[in-house]
Amino acid sequence: MSETVQDKVDFLVIANRLPVDRKIDDEGNVSWQSSPGGLVTALEPVMQRKGGAWIGWHGAPDEVVEPFHHDGYDIHPVPLSAQEVEEYYEGFSNATLWPLYHDCVVEPVFHREWWDAFQKVNKRFAEQAAEQAAEGATVWVQDYQLNLVPTYLREMRPDLRIGFFLHIPFPPIELYSRLPWREELVEGLLGADLVGFQTPGAAANFLRLAKRRPGVTASRGRAHTRDGRDVVVRDFPISIDSRGFHELATSEKVQAETAKLREDLGNPETIIFGVDRLDYTKGLRQRIRAVGELFKEGKLDPHEVVFLQLATPSRERVEEYKILRDDINQLVGQINSKVGTIANRALVYRNESVPREVLAAMYQVADLMLVTPVRDGMNLVAKEYIACRSNDDSALVLSEFAGAARELKQAYMVNPYDIDGMKATIMKALTDSPKVKARKMRSMRRQVFDKTIDVWADDFLTELEGR
Ligand code: ADP
Ligand code: G6P
Repeated sequence: MSETVQDKVDFLVIANRLPVDRKIDDEGNVSWQSSPGGLVTALEPVMQRKGGAWIGWHGAPDEVVEPFHHDGYDIHPVPLSAQEVEEYYEGFSNATLWPLYHDCVVEPVFHREWWDAFQKVNKRFAEQAAEQAAEGATVWVQDYQLNLVPTYLREMRPDLRIGFFLHIPFPPIELYSRLPWREELVEGLLGADLVGFQTPGAAANFLRLAKRRPGVTASRGRAHTRDGRDVVVRDFPISIDSRGFHELATSEKVQAETAKLREDLGNPETIIFGVDRLDYTKGLRQRIRAVGELFKEGKLDPHEVVFLQLATPSRERVEEYKILRDDINQLVGQINSKVGTIANRALVYRNESVPREVLAAMYQVADLMLVTPVRDGMNLVAKEYIACRSNDDSALVLSEFAGAARELKQAYMVNPYDIDGMKATIMKALTDSPKVKARKMRSMRRQVFDKTIDVWADDFLTELEGR
């Protein structure tokens, strides 16, 4: 494969994020770091396999970065000014659409200037794609930040095959209808040939909205547009590179890391683990409260059990994320001051991102994994745990509000709003017989190793290329 950046490509992914972020420290030193979140985790292996180009923002404001070749594909960084980061990314994407699409678990904020910036930046991404795509190329647009790109791109390049995949939930019509720009956003997606969602419910929500548009009809998973096109609308539950995670978790390097980690945690009998972006959709408040109460009530003994919670800082300038960070710090402090000792902390909370090998070691040592979002499109952490943890004496506690609950049916299901119910399920997951747990783990492992990220990408692209 060529190491130089190609002029035009037949396959393009466009996402707000590139797989790597450019970071500049106080001394002006530049480094590239892996970008956070499920979208990058899922798409990186797809690009490594397929080649082509990835168009996205490189994570730093007010900076133009030249295209470069990375891991078998081209990277085309899209610049954003500091004001665009504030209005398009932090504002419209993450303070308007993100909460609205996650069932309004916090109040969405509506600002007309943010909407203007959102349109402008979506246009820029579409222009960049129109420039890089060869005649008849396949372009795969990712996620809510680029909701308007399919229609802009179709206007610029009607020869392209355009797919769109939404990584997050799509809300019911009653919530969506609050959006002052709901018509434009629905039209934005109807520019694609194929629109994919994580669950059938999300696809149905979108179809219900689409057929309200004048001149648009919908039947059997298709929307028929005014200009006579058929848009296929379907669910494609996303996954992970399951074998890649498993191989990493069982590698010698990670095994050594595992032993060290256990030691660092004081060699407890039981390790409970949670790992998320620090996001209010992840149910961290509820989860920490539930485990904290179990410690306080003496149902969990801090000499035997450690709860390790990792939370990657995320969207730190958005108000609700600041509130969450302070709340969680306070909650963790309160619990640790009441239970455990300095030598035996009940709750080990780390507000950081860790390298993939360290994360794999954490999954390997975790006897119990807690994944308790109040709403989540899929949740890849749940799948990563199943792929990495090779001991059958393990358990996954999973929120029924994560897309993953549709597939990982053998998990210990919880409603994160029901703290007592969650506490009871955590205790059950810890005390069930090894036989019951092994059966559950084996069933979930089959699911995660059958339905991998390659299957997901092939399903989507086969459907798109058949259009
Ligand atoms: P989201 O996309 O909303 O962040 P997912 O669970 O689908 O949620 O994906 C999160 C991804 O980010 C996973 O691949 C997970 O391993 C990774 N991740 C989350 N927190 C951390 C962390 N503290 N360190 C390293 N990776 C993390
Ligand atoms: C979720 C979203 C992605 C996003 C990721 C990280 O996975 O679906 O689109 O990239 O979170 O969030 P960030 O705002 O840091 O890109």
